Amino acid sequence: MKKTLPSLARVSTLVFAMTTGFAHAGEVEVLHWWTSGGEAKAAMALKATLQAKGHVWKDFAVAGGGGDAAMTVLKSRVVSGNAPAAAQIKGPSLQDWAHEGVLASIDDVAKAGHWDELLPKVVSDGMKYKGSYIAVPVNVHRVNWLWANPEVFRKAGAKLPTTWDEFFVAAEALRKAGFVAFAHGGQNWQDMTVFEAVAIGVGGPDFYRKALVQLDQATLKSALMEQVLATFKRIKPYTDRNSPGRDWNLSTAMVIRGEAGMQIMGDWAKGEFVAAGKVAGKDFICTPAPGTAKAFTFNVDSFAMFKLKSEANVKAQKDLASAVMSPEFQEVFSLNKGSIPVRLNMKMDKFDDCAKASAKDFVDTARAGTLMPSIAHGMAVPAAAEGAIKDAVSQFWNTDKMSPKDAATKIAAAARTQ
Ligand code: GAL
Repeated sequence: MKKTLPSLARVSTLVFAMTTGFAHAGEVEVLHWWTSGGEAKAAMALKATLQAKGHVWKDFAVAGGGGDAAMTVLKSRVVSGNAPAAAQIKGPSLQDWAHEGVLASIDDVAKAGHWDELLPKVVSDGMKYKGSYIAVPVNVHRVNWLWANPEVFRKAGAKLPTTWDEFFVAAEALRKAGFVAFAHGGQNWQDMTVFEAVAIGVGGPDFYRKALVQLDQATLKSALMEQVLATFKRIKPYTDRNSPGRDWNLSTAMVIRGEAGMQIMGDWAKGEFVAAGKVAGKDFICTPAPGTAKAFTFNVDSFAMFKLKSEANVKAQKDLASAVMSPEFQEVFSLNKGSIPVRLNMKMDKFDDCAKASAKDFVDTARAGTLMPSIAHGMAVPAAAEGAIKDAVSQFWNTDKMSPKDAATKIAAAARTQ
């Protein structure tokens, strides 16, 4: 009996195989840096989506907001001939990786899914190398946000700032009332996230584009650049002693707990508020960073697909790509991540007012010409120049005696890095 009858476990495996295509199940190893509360929830939505297709998810998470650590690990894995199936790679870096010849075309998935029609052109162009899709976009983050705790503002008698002048008035009131006025983590990508917001708020969108997207030397060394730098540095006294090196989500937690008044951060911060059970407009406020209401700095998360040998794994990789663009996934992922769907014409009824504002501003700023790539988040310039500029900006933030003029000279030199 024992020998002729298949065990119950085997029968159920077979049934599972027949209904889910398990016979062709593949494994997808996915490199990402989504390890904070909200980020991890969003990553789990991706895992569940893939598993529902009968595939195996192999998590390759490298902690570190902004992804610098993840990119370092990725390089060594690819160099040793052991690339993951998919990796969170964004912006111009996608072209660099494709140029190395290590990325796979997923054109068949994109064609079948009509991606060209479903994506804004500014996004789909970036996902292609020599006309072929090599990556799938996940979402759109807006970077130029200010997050505030309304209760803290009320207690301090402070008003939400819409300009940089108002920002310093509010910061002073928050500080006098005994709060940390500005929650900030001193890491170079976070310094740069604040700096690019100041660049638009003080310098204006044209200045931002010329200086930090086109890397125009004259603009980088201009008097306006010095004014931007001086304003940026004025923020520092409103941060707390433990700011250096702190992770971004811990700063967000200070705002959530009512220890700090505000933070400037992309809307992945909203993922933290939401994961903590907080409600937009009631427990926390989102408002454009001072002076940037008419601009939108975007950060599109995307997964690049690496060339793989196993046929089953290629199938799983393609299933992942197609699932990422599905309306169901686009919705659930962004609800957790704090972003908005990258797929056009999605219903926004389940989203909060921050996301609704972001979706509207994305379209409006694209029309007005003030939709701009975030340099802090790998969208605007090649990685080498970005890294050097981030370091120069942080050096200025951390060096008390450095003048805005010297900083501008350093940043302009950094912009030449290739
Ligand atoms: C960004 C990334 C976001 C977010 C953030 C903090 O670069 O695009 O998805 O997770 O880093 O880790």
